[in-house]
Amino acid sequence: MAVLDAVSADIIAELAAVVALAIFARKWTWADLAKAKKDFIARGADIIDEGYYKYKDDKFWVQTADMPRLVLSRKFIPEINNNKMVPDGTLSLTGALKDRLLTKYTDLTHIFESPLHNDVCKIQLTQHLHKLIPGMHEETEYWISQKIGDGCETNAYDVMVTCVVGIISRVYAGTGASRDPEWLKTARDYSISLFAACIALRPYPAFIRGWVAPYMETQKKLKEHLDTAKRQFSPIFAERLRLADAGLIKEEDKPNDMVQWMVDAAKGDDRDPDRLSHNLLFLTVAAIHTSAAGAVHALFDLCGNPEYIEPLREEIRETFEERGITMAAWNQMKRLDSVMKESQRINHPGVLSFNRKVEKPLHLSDGTTIPAGTMVTIPSSSIARDPDIYPNPEKFLGFRFYELRMAKKENAMRYQYTSTGPDSMQFGHGKLACPGRHVVGAVIKDILAEILLKYDVSWPAGTTQRPKNVFSGEHIGPDRSQKIVFTKRVADKTESKTQ
Ligand code: HEM
Repeated sequence: MAVLDAVSADIIAELAAVVALAIFARKWTWADLAKAKKDFIARGADIIDEGYYKYKDDKFWVQTADMPRLVLSRKFIPEINNNKMVPDGTLSLTGALKDRLLTKYTDLTHIFESPLHNDVCKIQLTQHLHKLIPGMHEETEYWISQKIGDGCETNAYDVMVTCVVGIISRVYAGTGASRDPEWLKTARDYSISLFAACIALRPYPAFIRGWVAPYMETQKKLKEHLDTAKRQFSPIFAERLRLADAGLIKEEDKPNDMVQWMVDAAKGDDRDPDRLSHNLLFLTVAAIHTSAAGAVHALFDLCGNPEYIEPLREEIRETFEERGITMAAWNQMKRLDSVMKESQRINHPGVLSFNRKVEKPLHLSDGTTIPAGTMVTIPSSSIARDPDIYPNPEKFLGFRFYELRMAKKENAMRYQYTSTGPDSMQFGHGKLACPGRHVVGAVIKDILAEILLKYDVSWPAGTTQRPKNVFSGEHIGPDRSQKIVFTKRVADKTESKTQ
């Protein structure tokens, strides 16, 4: 009975998918559903583009690789973010993530039932970011020197993901984590294992997932990663909880890392060392490959558009001279910020954003009521490449957002890498927009600045243009096999002061 209770929501979701197909395709076999999912995996981006232009002011259904989703027009974005029109509790990001990540079988339900992982990113991480910059930069220098040294031709994704794992691990738990090979491997691999587990489970009908899951190789991998996280962090969490409970640590002596923020913020059942370790592990899913992909896309766009490199170097040198390597410096680098935003605009992390599960009937201004249980989403990548919104949308215009920011006084704080809005949904939008976006902005700027000041970057012999992105269902990623040539530069007088 317990298993039945656990799977019943999935069964309902799957039946809903078949019923949706029945209504829209006038067929309703499981084979049709499987075919629709396969079709979306093969050409999801094209399917969404097609729907976007056909129903630009309306909405359309699409069967994605996991579930049917109702794709809403951009025109609904302001109202679904307006508390007066859509009261709290109507749309749920947590509900959407629980369904998409099959949390009942991937052992993540308790993580999503608590706001802890989200709160520590939104509040403490953002507040303390400026103090973390020197440590983050130390990691960048260290990992770039390990991976590129005096220059080489090497795999771009590997360089970026190695740097990101090192920097994020430093933020999460200091140098104990950022130089520990076992943890670094887990931090890099856990999200890959999680998505592999979801892909392996999805083809099984919902009512038998609970029985097959424990025997799947992918589940075993997840458990291995969790065991590593607990082995590494549970004793540290236990000790920090003990010090906090006994009042043995003063505010000013507290370590400035995610482990401490979690200890300070955790309440009730979350104040358990193993649970906190699991939370920390989950935060690698949100942070690592998302950020590495963003850095690789920007690097590819610079190799493909080398005319931006010298103006960026100039901005980086001047800003470091004035501000040192600080948060203020990252905020001041408007050209670099613009290049990163333009790169992310063209190379969205996914086809869809703002995935929300409707928990209470959603009443839209056009008179439609969307019933509870529906998954709604926004076609963010199509919006970002719509010529009515962004002229010449397929062209990489590195200073597009810099120019928009400089055009009017009131634009100064808009069009930033971390800004979100109906036309810029890479980080979602509204009060649940990615709480890690400020840290990822600093991470990518740090890595790019380090690379641009120390190396010339170019394609290897035989490559003449940016490799095509890799599409799979709703996911968009850079080509992970592409190599880049890094040639050590001779630093000029000004640069040597900043290095
Ligand atoms: C380029 C890199 C990243 C991208 C593209 C990205 C994108 C997103 C998006 C689209 C969402 C959902 C927002 C919504 O639907 O409104 C999200 C949520 C989130 N992100 Fe990020 N993110 C990135 C990096 C990070 C980093 C570095 C961290 C942490 C250090 C992080 C932590 C989170 C968390 C905690 C959530 C909320 C998950 C939940 O509510 O359970 N993200 N991110």
